[in-house]
Amino acid sequence: MTKMLVTGGAGFIGANFVHYTLKHKPEYEVTVIDKLTYAGNPDNLASILEKINFVTGDLNDQALIDKLVSENDIVVHFAADTHNDNSLNDPWPFIENNILGTYHLLEAVRKHDKRLHHISTDEVFGDLELDDPNRFTETTPYEPSSPYSASKASSDHLVRAWIRSFGIKATISNCSNNYGPYQHIEKFIPRQITNILSDIKPKLYGTGEQVRDWIHVDDHNSAVHLILEQGKLGDTYIIGADNDHVNNKAVIEMICELMGKGHDWYEHVNDRPGHDMRYAMDSSKLRRELGWQPQYTDQNGMENGLKQTIQWYTDNEEWWQAEKAKVEAKYAEQGQ
Ligand SMILES: NC(=O)c1ccc[n+]([C@@H]2O[C@H](COP(=O)([O-])OP(=O)(O)OC[C@H]3O[C@@H](n4cnc5c(N)ncnc54)[C@H](O)[C@@H]3O)[C@@H](O)[C@H]2O)c1
Repeated sequence: MTKMLVTGGAGFIGANFVHYTLKHKPEYEVTVIDKLTYAGNPDNLASILEKINFVTGDLNDQALIDKLVSENDIVVHFAADTHNDNSLNDPWPFIENNILGTYHLLEAVRKHDKRLHHISTDEVFGDLELDDPNRFTETTPYEPSSPYSASKASSDHLVRAWIRSFGIKATISNCSNNYGPYQHIEKFIPRQITNILSDIKPKLYGTGEQVRDWIHVDDHNSAVHLILEQGKLGDTYIIGADNDHVNNKAVIEMICELMGKGHDWYEHVNDRPGHDMRYAMDSSKLRRELGWQPQYTDQNGMENGLKQTIQWYTDNEEWWQAEKAKVEAKYAEQGQ
């Protein structure tokens, strides 16, 4: 058995990663470390809790991290503060969790000479103009726009510096926006789905022209496993499922249609300040070198992924119901 430490495993992608690992990769013994911020929910792992080790704790607790890293063979690092809007209201948790947290993890990985995979985002590259046909690649320069993306960019730079300066055995991936089960309902897609389930009209920021290159969380996680197994140490891999033809307006319309509402059963709300226009990912390196293929790609794939996600939120109302009023009240304060 390979002992795997997953940071942020009670969050959206981390929890899906742990479920995916238990289902498809029985060779791993999984330990999760999660601080359980508002975004971490132990219920995300409730059905598999007896099959994993779960530790509530902070990456910035150096003694704890040192012990956990020393006890495991590999570390997959998801933990971060992740909601852009929150980073505009209060940047500090993003500096503390994303930059200092990664620093403390890196020091433990260096000391104990363990394999690390660092999860990052396309947001580090800034955005493209709507009519720009280019996509982000592994060599696109960093140009983050928000405190969130700047903190993720900082953590990526730290990982690269630890690879170059100290020779740690690490890989990095930058992925586009994810959707799927267990995503906090403050995020764009689950917010719209749970709005409709609550008989509230979905809310479209501004004109809705922004493009996000959506990827289903299982496709993200299959790529992470491939990188763990076959990725070249020191390398970065872009992960994206070629969905950069759908803008936010089209996503809302798709959700409305799939949930039996007219395609225009939504309303416009204030745009976000500094809202990035277009993200598009060129994942050809990952496909060419490691043979990765996303399952939910192109228009059909995106629809299937959304259908599966809608079904999950419909079947798991008790998972999100208690948070709904609070999340909408917070958005209402921002005119969104
Ligand atoms: N959601 C996306 O669309 C997306 C896309 C690309 C990359 N990413 C990256 O993937 C990772 C996971 O994103 P997510 O959407 O699952 O986030 P999330 O907010 O749902 O979960 C993050 C988890 O990290 C935990 N955490 C935060 N700070 C911690 C700390 N100091 N110590 C221990 N645990 C801590 C939280 O409690 C939470 O459970 C992040 O690094 C994010 O930047 C996300």
